[in-house]
Amino acid sequence: MCGIVGYIGRKKAYPILIKGLKRLEYRGYDSAGVAMIDDNGELNVYKAKGKVSDLEECCADKNVCGCAGIAHTRWATHGEPSSANAHPHCSASGRLALIHNGIIENYATIKDNLAERGTVFRSSTDTEVLVQLVEHVMLSNGLGLLEAVQVSLRQVVGAYAIAILDKEHPDTLVCARRSSPLVVGLGEDGDFYLASDASPIAEYTDRVVYLDDGDVAVMRLGDELRVVNLENGMQHPKVKQIDIALGELEKGGFPFFMLKEIFEQPDCLRNCMRGRINVEGDHVALSAVIDHRERLAGARRIVIVACGTSWHAGLIGKQLIESLCRIPVEVEYASEFRYREPVVYPDDVVMAISQSGETADTLAAIELARKSGAFVFGICNAIGASIPRQTQTGVYIHVGPEIGVASTKAFTGQVTVLSMLALCLANERRTIPGEQYKEMVAELTRIPSKMEEALRTNEQIERLAPIFTYAKNCLYLGRGYNYPVALEGALKLKEISYIHAEGYPAAEMKHGPIALIDSEMPVFVIATRDKLYEKVISNIQEVRARGGRVTALVTAGDEQIRQLADHVIELPDTLECFQPLIVSIPLQLLAYHIAVCKGKDVDRPRNLAKSVTVE
Ligand code: F6R
Repeated sequence: MCGIVGYIGRKKAYPILIKGLKRLEYRGYDSAGVAMIDDNGELNVYKAKGKVSDLEECCADKNVCGCAGIAHTRWATHGEPSSANAHPHCSASGRLALIHNGIIENYATIKDNLAERGTVFRSSTDTEVLVQLVEHVMLSNGLGLLEAVQVSLRQVVGAYAIAILDKEHPDTLVCARRSSPLVVGLGEDGDFYLASDASPIAEYTDRVVYLDDGDVAVMRLGDELRVVNLENGMQHPKVKQIDIALGELEKGGFPFFMLKEIFEQPDCLRNCMRGRINVEGDHVALSAVIDHRERLAGARRIVIVACGTSWHAGLIGKQLIESLCRIPVEVEYASEFRYREPVVYPDDVVMAISQSGETADTLAAIELARKSGAFVFGICNAIGASIPRQTQTGVYIHVGPEIGVASTKAFTGQVTVLSMLALCLANERRTIPGEQYKEMVAELTRIPSKMEEALRTNEQIERLAPIFTYAKNCLYLGRGYNYPVALEGALKLKEISYIHAEGYPAAEMKHGPIALIDSEMPVFVIATRDKLYEKVISNIQEVRARGGRVTALVTAGDEQIRQLADHVIELPDTLECFQPLIVSIPLQLLAYHIAVCKGKDVDRPRNLAKSVTVE
């Protein structure tokens, strides 16, 4: 949702904070702000509506200085995006500045209590309520900042990652988290970095502490990091080594992160498979399956919980696991699952899929599953995020940080992990013959090179894209394994080009959506050679008969569909179950180029945020 950065040390804080905010801008970008304690001990706050670059512009003619600061990039929840509602928010006396990612659910009650005692509020945010509360607690009880933060947070219901500066103690930064991520970086000179994820920190130190729910941490220059947990008292912070290549955080010559991430996919999948598929390319081993063989291979049922693109990956996972392992799989939106009293058996495996590992609804679904006694398995990209820490075991997808808000490489990484998992379990359960297993593993290892071939369609797609920029609605059709890919293709287009698009199982079209088809309606049909190929050809004919304009994604060399479709995009052949990994590429490129033609900010689509840490 929002991104948080903090620094306390001997270096100039402002450049560190701004650079950090840019790395976190994927989390929100409707307004940004920074608070710094300057060399005279004054607390100064600078805010701007818009992106981090707008904040930079606003600060350009000001003397922003100091070695202690906090900064925030916002995705509005309470209060419209504006400079007044941007963080940091200050306490009434101007002594404290606070930034916050999350939602204070009982802010209205707290606000009413404080207002009765005379507090005047300057914004309509829940965050300002929190900083006013902390100051009120400090002053009325004569407490120091750490104690006041602890007392205040005990009154708060909701999700938060916060950081607070106190101008009376310019060498100290206090932060806390519950259900929103926060990482502390331990610098070499006793300085400290703080951020919503490790990407703003990686450049300065590889030693980090991921805070846990209920932790309140004090960073005092030159001192040890102190962590007190609201429920469990004093903690010994666990220092972890991180390994993030800085190149992964830059655009590397591409105009947008999204395009870079689309092109990275072959290497990402090689990284995802490395060490898991043997060098001979005929056997896959996942440590999670080795460690929990009986629990996983013996599952009575698997329930996949996820949101958005990760949910689409789950739909592909269902087909893989059911057909290869013969274990029934249900795929649920985490947001629905958590609230509808689902039946979960203790011998179920609940599988949570999430790129960020911080999605609030998916975390709540995990909590519910754990309480029901199910075994909880996580598939995640962000190392050290909440989901891998709250699941019993799992698999990282290892595709590197995904910065573009529209998910691309994380989706294919998730599908690759699900493919490896299905193969592993099928081998354990002996549900596919040994030869077939080996052939399938070998084909999976060939997917990255086939993706490279698929990426060669980029120029053709760039040429086609302007034709579709006029469209108000688009339809994406696919069947079998390609039905979730159609859903994902439509989601990508919606997200970044703001063209309405729907994904449909091709055969369902005649039960309703066919009414929409006319010559204005682009229809993208996934028609690769598989067991439903002939049936999809009939669906193309149904569209053509109503004047619809068909762009077909076909297997290289397909002459039959060339005669029927307005445009064909040829793709390398592979096994039906791995086709989503290939077909996703041109659909991602299509969404990307259409959005670019329409002049949209592809990496930061309006109203969206990368990490949805509120429900
Ligand atoms: C779409 C997209 C979202 C996410 C969804 C879940 O491109 O990125 O639909 O897939 O918000 O996020 P994660 O995977 O982080 O749980």
